[in-house]
Amino acid sequence: MISEILQRSINWIDVRFPVTKLWKDQVAEYYAPKNFNFWYYFGSLAMLVFANQVITGIFLTMSYKPSAAEAFGSVEYIMRDVPWGWLIRYMHSTGASAFFVVIYLHMFRGIIYGSYRKPRELLWLIGMAIYAALMAEAFLGYLLPWGQMSYWGAQVIISLFGAIPFIGEDLTIWIRGDYVVSDVTLNRFFALHVIALPFVLAGLVVAHLMALHEVGSNNPDGIEIKDNKGPDGIPLDGIPFHPYYTVKDMVGVMAFLAIAAVVVFFMPSLGGYLLEHNNFKPADPMVTPTHIAPLWYFTPFYAILRAIPHKLLGVMGMGLSVGLFALLPWLDRGAVKSIRYRGWIYKLFLSVFVVCFIGLGYLGMQPPTPVSTMVTRILAVGYFGFFILMPIYTRIDPTKPEPERLT
Ligand code: HEM
Repeated sequence: MISEILQRSINWIDVRFPVTKLWKDQVAEYYAPKNFNFWYYFGSLAMLVFANQVITGIFLTMSYKPSAAEAFGSVEYIMRDVPWGWLIRYMHSTGASAFFVVIYLHMFRGIIYGSYRKPRELLWLIGMAIYAALMAEAFLGYLLPWGQMSYWGAQVIISLFGAIPFIGEDLTIWIRGDYVVSDVTLNRFFALHVIALPFVLAGLVVAHLMALHEVGSNNPDGIEIKDNKGPDGIPLDGIPFHPYYTVKDMVGVMAFLAIAAVVVFFMPSLGGYLLEHNNFKPADPMVTPTHIAPLWYFTPFYAILRAIPHKLLGVMGMGLSVGLFALLPWLDRGAVKSIRYRGWIYKLFLSVFVVCFIGLGYLGMQPPTPVSTMVTRILAVGYFGFFILMPIYTRIDPTKPEPERLT
């Protein structure tokens, strides 16, 4: 009886909106390679974290006051007086870091399996646009609690635009809406953080998934399953996304939620890595903190900025360190896509890159010393070397032959 009512309702909708067709095309009859592994959890987890940020963000907005006089106090009010406010706030603040953990692992998967290569270049570029929007979103959001680090972090980053010749100084005033970071800045950052960028991100995620489903997923072997189709036109190595991967992704979701719960309930500031100590003090334009550093997810790039003595070159170096990822589809000249069939030269360069990325991230959090600046410069050379030398070492890399079918 109930199933009949349900079926009739779906039929009613189908005549007016292609809900069954969408479900079939995008989920039930979307054939994904049958060898997805651990690394393939992070796309669905990114969607989960995005949803978490939007939902907790809506509830935070109900009690938050975007004004210089009230912002800090309203966050304290959320933490102490709003029922469950502390939980909502911690889910949002730790969710921001979780978003970057998930995205970095998601991008790393793309790198090791060559998922950025033909025919997925545009999928990768849309991913890079998402990454840029995500960085902007995190930066804007960090000003909102109006703590010391919010204030001075924004001051430092906005002043970087001042390094641009001719228009730099005017540009910084235009961004702030004032000569210093002020109430006006807070107001516009709030507008961008809660409305503009979430919309941009949501649109980009839809485009990302459309591009993915147009070309089909890559996989840990880095070979195209569409090259081996059965008489029914279905890839021989493909399995329907639903129920196989919907169920598998739930396993990832459970593991992720368990870890996230431990962080949210027992270590929400994680010793200052997720919420900085200085941000528990209200913003004070008259007192500059002795050490200003962004949160961990920006520190690899921040380290590069600080290690270059010239301001404009430093900003360009920092921009390049992010932007080079976008060129990967064209820098990589390897005969194979997946790390499984790459040779030792590629693996060596990739390992050096990972060490440099983590090392830069660590150094970017520390107050600079002459020694750490030297080490940062050495790591920066390793970091850039991975990209700049890629057309050479991927070509001479002794690769193994790819299999015909998935292993
Ligand atoms: C809000 C952020 C993002 C969401 C929600 C998202 C979502 C997804 C989903 C659901 C998939 C399919 C499942 C999977 O392969 O894990 C996917 C695949 C992919 N994504 Fe993302 N993504 C995001 C950001 C990014 C970024 C920043 C990049 C790279 C710069 C990227 C590059 C890719 C690539 C190359 C694939 C295909 C991977 C393959 O088939 O091997 N994505 N994404």
